[in-house]
Order: sequence, then structure tokens, then C-alpha cells
Amino acid sequence: MSDSQRTAYIAGIGMAVPPKVVTNEDFARTMDTSDEWITQMTGIKERHYTDENTATSDLAIEATRIALERAGTDPLDIDVIIVATATPDMPFPSTACLVQHAIGATNAFGYDLTAACAGFIFGLVQAQTFIKAGAADTVLLIGGECLTKITDFSDRNTCVLFGDGAGAAILKSCDPPRGIIDYVLKCDGSLSEYIKQPAGGSRRPPSRETVDAGDHVIRMKGRQVYVHASKKMSDAVVQVLEQQGLTGDDVDLLFPHQANIRIIQSVAERAGMPMEKVFVNIHKYGNTSAASIPLALAEAWEEGVLKEGMLIALVAFGSGFTWGSALIRW
Ligand code: ACO
Repeated sequence: MSDSQRTAYIAGIGMAVPPKVVTNEDFARTMDTSDEWITQMTGIKERHYTDENTATSDLAIEATRIALERAGTDPLDIDVIIVATATPDMPFPSTACLVQHAIGATNAFGYDLTAACAGFIFGLVQAQTFIKAGAADTVLLIGGECLTKITDFSDRNTCVLFGDGAGAAILKSCDPPRGIIDYVLKCDGSLSEYIKQPAGGSRRPPSRETVDAGDHVIRMKGRQVYVHASKKMSDAVVQVLEQQGLTGDDVDLLFPHQANIRIIQSVAERAGMPMEKVFVNIHKYGNTSAASIPLALAEAWEEGVLKEGMLIALVAFGSGFTWGSALIRW
């Protein structure tokens, strides 16, 4: 088989979440909300929070060690490290460089990727592209976030939604029919106002004024995001299936970005898949942005749900807006 036909598969996947669990009841004790509202409107029951000494790279490194063991991979064999994150340890150096040093992947180069909640799927396509081109044999792809570090805990519209975590996948080369089959990636910057962290970059650098204005946290117009996420995620799944002449019936398991159970149900319905085919763990972790899909894949791996030969669909949507879908033959 020529290099142009080869693709990439996930040889091992691991996850890490911080030990501290915050429940809906915890929020209800301190603000005007309830377990009933949060559960009905989002599907979230609890989420994991990092402490003040823990950053995204710490979770990423923990998840990576598990993924390496499951894939039977030596860190020295890693060619590329991609960390999808909106909450790097710091603007630079990249979190990928911190991971590279910690795990001793001295033969690898690495960088961070910003595509918000869709970051893992964007990274998956980059990993496959490196491998397909023969530029890499082994890629470490991480989706990791500490969203609680940029959450406004006085805003009940957003603070109940987010959690921290990281998932790491080792991608290796393989021959079809196994591996990543196809993908759809999209973005629309005209809708960038709907979810953003307004300050902290070159447009509005950190200052006393930006801190006082509370502009270093996530600001979201939830209803608008909800409407776009439901439509664009289902469109992306349908498109990637159509590109391969497939339908929802052909998919064994759908792994949607875990932002809201009602969005997930709407995507499944529009894509023609019953909820029995949809992996859901939003009740345990909330919205972990770029970590959401690898957390779900890692849990599915641990539960023995992922079986060789299954057709897996991934779909995500996030700030930008960015969104995309991928099909994998497991
Ligand atoms: N507890 C109780 N009431 C609340 C809470 C809360 N935690 N939050 C909001 N409400 C109230 C609002 O104040 C509002 O009250 P009002 O009618 O008196 O003004 C009412 O509930 C309805 O609020 P809406 O925002 O209109 O409710 P909606 O149905 O849109 O649900 C939600 C809100 C859950 C945030 C939803 O919009 C959503 O999930 N949006 C999508 C989020 C998402 O997918 N993000 C993905 C990208 S994330 C990323 O990129 C990092």
C-alpha cells in the first residue's frame, strides 16, 4: 500500500480529571439555581475542578502516561505532540512543549492548537495528515482544559456548565479499512461574538481595567450558541456520512461534544441515530471543551464498549465558531 492510502488509528487513549467533584447541590447552596434546573436544561449533575496548583499540562501529562501504556508506545517513538486547548498553562511556551519535556519525548516536536470545543477533531485531522503524508508514524494528540480557571462564578448562566479534564490519544499509522476514514472541518468567524474570553490577548491585554471589568472569563450568549450548535453539529455528521455514501444506520457509536444533553439529543435525532448509539458522560464532567471527546473515548475504552471494526462518528462545536465531524473505523 502506498503512503497516500495509509491513514491513522487510535492505538491507545487515556484520561485524567482532578479529584475534586462539584455537584449541582453545591451550586444551589451558594446561588439562585437548582439541581432540577441544571439537570433538565443541561444534563449535567457534577463536574471536576482543578485546585490552584494544577494546570492543563498536569492533567495532559497524567492522561498521556495512561495512553502510552495502553498503546504500548515509548515516548521516544512520538514524532509530533498536538495539544488542543483554550486554556494552556500560559500563552507561551506551548503546553505541548511542557508535556514533551515531562514525558521525555525528546524526538518529538509539538504545538498547541486553538479550536475551542472542536479542537480534538481538528487535531485528529492534523495527526492523520502528518501520518498520511509519511511525515510522522506516531502522534500524541491531547485535548485538555482547565475551564474553571476562566469561569465567572458569579454568572449562573455559565458557571454551572464547565469542568476540567484532559484526554490523550496515541495515533499510529495503519492501512484502510481501519482508522480515520473521512472528516468535515468548518469555521465561521462572523459569529465569534457569541462565545469568547474578551480580554487577555493583544486586542485587550491584561490590565487593571480588564480585570476590574471581569473580562478574563468566558462570556457566552447561550441561546444563540445552542441553536447554532444543534444545527451545525448535525449538519456536519450528516455531511461526513454522505461523503462516504453512509447514513446514521451505519454508525455503531456517536461521540458528540458534551455541552448540553438537549443539543446531543437533537443532533442524534437529526442524524438519524437512536440515543442508544450515543455515548454520553456529560452528567459526570460537564462541558470540558477540547477534552470532552477524548474523555468520552477514554471512558468507552475503559468500559470495553469500543470493539474492533465498529464505525465511530465524532462531532463537536465550539467558539469561533468552529465545528467538525470525523468517521473512524475502530
Ligand atoms: N439556574 C437557574 N436558572 C438559570 C440558570 C441557572 N444556572 N442559568 C440561566 N437561568 C435562567 C436564565 O436567567 C433565564 O431566566 P429568565 O427567563 O428569567 O431570563 C432562563 O433560565 C432561561 O435562560 P436561557 O439562557 O434562555 O436558557 P437556555 O434554554 O438557552 O439554556 C443553556 C441555557 C443551558 C446555557 C443553553 O443555552 C446552552 O447549553 N447553550 C449552549 C452552550 C454550548 O453548547 N456551548 C458550546 C460551546 S462551549 C465552548 O466553546 C467553550
